Amino acid sequence: MQRRIYLETYGCQMNVADSELMLGQLHRAGYERTEEAADADVILLNTCAIREHAEQRIYGRLGELTRHKVRRPGVLLGVAGCMAQHLKTRLLEKVPAVDLVVGPDGYRDLPALLDGARDEPTLAVRLSRDETYGDLAPARADGVRAWVSIMRGCDKFCAFCIVPFVRGRERSLPLEEVLRQVEHAGAEGFKEIVFLGQTVNAYRDGEDDFASLLRRADAVEGIARIRFTSPHPSDFTDRTLEALADCRKVMPHVHLPLQSGSNRVLDRMRRIYTIEEYEELVARLRAAVPGLALSTDIIVGFPGETEDDFEATRDAMRRVGYDSAFLFKYSPRPGARSAEWDDDVPDAEKTRRITILIEEQKQASLDRNAAVVGQDVEVLVEGPSKRNPEHWFGKCRRFKTTIFPRRNEAVGDLVTIRIAAASPYTLFGEGVPSSLRAMEDATP
Ligand code: 5AD
Ligand code: SF4
Repeated sequence: MQRRIYLETYGCQMNVADSELMLGQLHRAGYERTEEAADADVILLNTCAIREHAEQRIYGRLGELTRHKVRRPGVLLGVAGCMAQHLKTRLLEKVPAVDLVVGPDGYRDLPALLDGARDEPTLAVRLSRDETYGDLAPARADGVRAWVSIMRGCDKFCAFCIVPFVRGRERSLPLEEVLRQVEHAGAEGFKEIVFLGQTVNAYRDGEDDFASLLRRADAVEGIARIRFTSPHPSDFTDRTLEALADCRKVMPHVHLPLQSGSNRVLDRMRRIYTIEEYEELVARLRAAVPGLALSTDIIVGFPGETEDDFEATRDAMRRVGYDSAFLFKYSPRPGARSAEWDDDVPDAEKTRRITILIEEQKQASLDRNAAVVGQDVEVLVEGPSKRNPEHWFGKCRRFKTTIFPRRNEAVGDLVTIRIAAASPYTLFGEGVPSSLRAMEDATP
């Protein structure tokens, strides 16, 4: 009898791609996916450990899912991903209903691990130096966008970050395997490729670097757009900047995590760049790619962050002019370097700082989007808007969500849309009634 897998994914796009990998392995072993935990033989959570909040959510969810085991004792409950790697046996101790704990480098053998977990609780948390899964075909979700992991792990060891400990050392897929995946995705009908890696622009396969990869992917037929996330500011080479300028399909948007605008904090974070170097990079990127959109990640309340440090971040954000920003309150991650330091910015102060940045970024995003009103943008049609099926949604070249009335376009078409209105998070084409705009707003 065919076995059914129920899989939930938390956290970043790397995890989304890893879930597709796991589903590929499970399909080949005879599993089919179900959308209902109540129908599943195996319930699996692909988890995130990047911030404390992410972990708390997963504990809550595990508690809820345990009832399926109570009702149907044969059901297996598995935890995959970064939290599995981070907590290891502690997860089995804290949540006794869990049968399998499998870290990011254990997915190749997932079907066998599940078989073993039927007999006894199983732990598979050995990190590998060379596992890339490059030869495995992921079961990609339908859509216009295919996520392609091109490297795994991270060697940067930023002081706040747990990723190097839960995803292991940096390693890249062979270039030919990446290209085979891009070609395959193109043949399957995907229009956009997003290259993924913790420090995606550190990609290297022998003589070939991230620039070589962009140039080779740019030539693949069927693919209309290429994106990548997240690059590290100190891994941008001149060669990559030239490739960004030359490659027609590489979209004019870069997510460039800043983390802090204060050199004192950047140094303690071990980000290995100064704010001056970062801004110089921004200038070079903007010169290479006209109209470039920039987004970023910022942490407020890192240990020892003073009011002056915070103001430096605020000033830097104003000077750079981001199209959007992900803003986080610092939370200590046991295992990461900074967890040993006093978490000395009170939560109320972190909240005050983040609130200021959220408000300022909202206005900045609105201003930048408002500048597009009256212009034509190219949109890749992704599907009917969830809030109103009479409208399409898709992303413009600069990765802004765009909503416009449906005519006879099809999913996967590239269409030109005249922008009539804008909010901080969304562009609206002509013909979206103002009464519907607030409803359609894709607030993150
Ligand atoms: N606390 C708060 N934010 C964090 N991030 C990573 N680790 C932490 C932490 N301990 C943020 C960084 C990173 C993003 C993915 O998550 O901004 O770029
Ligand atoms: Fe974490 Fe820094 Fe690596 Fe990004 S570059 S994954 S923030 S250690």
